Amino acid sequence: MSGFVVAIDGKAGSGKSTTAKGVAKRLNFFYLDTGAMYRAFTLKYLRIKKTKDDNIDFELVYRLLENTTIELAQHNDELRVFLDGEDVSKEIRSPEVNQLVSPISAIKEVREWMVKKQREIAQGKNIVCEGRDMTTVVFPDAQVKIFMDADLPTRAERRRKELLEKGINISLEESLNNLKYRDDYDSSREHSLLKKADDAIVIDTTNLTIEQEIELVEKIVKDKLKTFTR
Ligand code: DC
Repeated sequence: MSGFVVAIDGKAGSGKSTTAKGVAKRLNFFYLDTGAMYRAFTLKYLRIKKTKDDNIDFELVYRLLENTTIELAQHNDELRVFLDGEDVSKEIRSPEVNQLVSPISAIKEVREWMVKKQREIAQGKNIVCEGRDMTTVVFPDAQVKIFMDADLPTRAERRRKELLEKGINISLEESLNNLKYRDDYDSSREHSLLKKADDAIVIDTTNLTIEQEIELVEKIVKDKLKTFTR
């Protein structure tokens, strides 16, 4: 069997990455972390941009899109992200990338590039993908569609801990501010804004453990798989 898509959307810190990763592992599906792709492109822009201010150099963005390769590879249990052949899995989680990734991912041309690439990667595979527009734009025909959410303080604390595990120490306040900023940006931009697909199943993860989240989604997928014929 091939071509079964589990699409998960949600805000930063809602638990979608951990859940998607866990479900993909249990079902032996490919895990497509689309946020990591936007992050890798943002990193490339950050490394090359000349301007010191916050204004985005659109000409540079368009130029970079013409000669960028982003690849995802599963290595043991880890997803590795390669930017032009270089492993940038760690660097794409830096505060600098966190800060700029929302405005960069709001650019129409960047989104078009990513959507095309994401569909290519998914071709012929069983995948679990997660991001902001998986259920609405990239895979509107996905067999399973899920929208994850959790309250803001819970998401901020999760994000802070996640960064700490990677050796990056930020305060809860910084984490809250970054999330608020990104929530607003991702939910109000002109192209592919974060919204729930009409037929997506909503899961509020505020009071769920990671294990419970994974089990819940795994059950939804398994029930659907029983009825799936290519
Ligand atoms: O899930 P994440 O925090 O790694 O995502 C990083 C940013 O990328 C997020 O602020 C919005 C953007 N993004 C997006 O616009 N569309 C996606 N499919 C995935 C991420």
